[in-house]
Amino acid sequence: MNAPASAADTLRSTLAGVLDGLPPRQAASAVERLIANYRGDTPTNAPILRDRADVAAYAAYRMPATFEAVRAALEAFADAVPAWVPGSHVDIGGGTGAATWAVAATWDGERPVTVLDWAEPALALGREIAGSHPALRGAEWRRARIGAALELPETDLVTVSYVLNELSEPDRAALVEAAAAAARSVVIVEAGTPAGYERIIEARDRLIAAGFRVAAPCPHSAPCPIVPGTDWCHFAARVSRSSLHRQVKGGSLAYEDEKFSYVAATRLPAEPAPARIVRRPQIRKGQVLLDLCEADEQLRRTTVTKRHGDLYKAARDVEWGDAWPPLGDD
Ligand SMILES: C[S@@+](CC[C@H](N)C(=O)[O-])C[C@H]1O[C@@H](n2cnc3c(N)ncnc32)[C@H](O)[C@@H]1O
Repeated sequence: MNAPASAADTLRSTLAGVLDGLPPRQAASAVERLIANYRGDTPTNAPILRDRADVAAYAAYRMPATFEAVRAALEAFADAVPAWVPGSHVDIGGGTGAATWAVAATWDGERPVTVLDWAEPALALGREIAGSHPALRGAEWRRARIGAALELPETDLVTVSYVLNELSEPDRAALVEAAAAAARSVVIVEAGTPAGYERIIEARDRLIAAGFRVAAPCPHSAPCPIVPGTDWCHFAARVSRSSLHRQVKGGSLAYEDEKFSYVAATRLPAEPAPARIVRRPQIRKGQVLLDLCEADEQLRRTTVTKRHGDLYKAARDVEWGDAWPPLGDD
């Protein structure tokens, strides 16, 4: 018997269909324009995603990567609140709905889902794509502008993925404060750049000030131990490249690593990881070097050697972004 398709597979095959009817050159030039716009990193006064070609290109080019980044963040969050399943979800600046797919991939079952965005063409395509996932078919796609007047329904979970960089400082503050007032848990994901990390730290501070505790990636809710300007906390999610990717970027790599920064914060009782692996582990002969962010608010390198027995075996299998020591399988 065939296993049911995963959300990732369904998303991939649905996105392949989205580009049908769009001439490849048009899709590639829409992607190039979007990349240039996003590189600008400045708040915009009007939606960047203007028409169907823009959103089809965005969805085909970026959605698999934003989906994987949000899914990785949600998995770390779910590990910290193992008995919890969100009863409702609001995705702000949701665009074509990558985070709704990531939530559906993390927690089985159906829940009320609301996607808010100011770009009507993005909402329309998101609704169309969601038609191929049973848990997302009933989602509500609503036009809303992020700002001081943003009104949110009460919800268990708010996601905000790859949105903060498009907002002014006052709008970022308004968004995080509105999310903290409406939700029990908030997961925010940004690009894994120094600027993305800074926006995450700013949001993290606001969530803590609103009474939330950090569930992931940090092992604590104290200030981040990274000295500003010296480094940035980020992780990587592996994404298979689509044919559009290969067309735009050239080369024949089958995958690339999407770098992202995130914070998952909650009012629920949470058990953050005892420590988080914050760099790719370095495997040497007979030893593994792990760079850890630890519960005592320190960044530390630890060396795990063969003498550590089972822990050494575990260290050879862990990945950047995992908890340390690894969580037991349940
Ligand atoms: C880079 S896309 C991310 C989309 C989606 N969250 C994802 O992870 O793939 C940024 C989204 O934020 C939306 N956005 C930007 N500024 C906004 C604003 N002021 N009000 C509402 N939506 C906004 C854009 O329309 C776009 O859909």
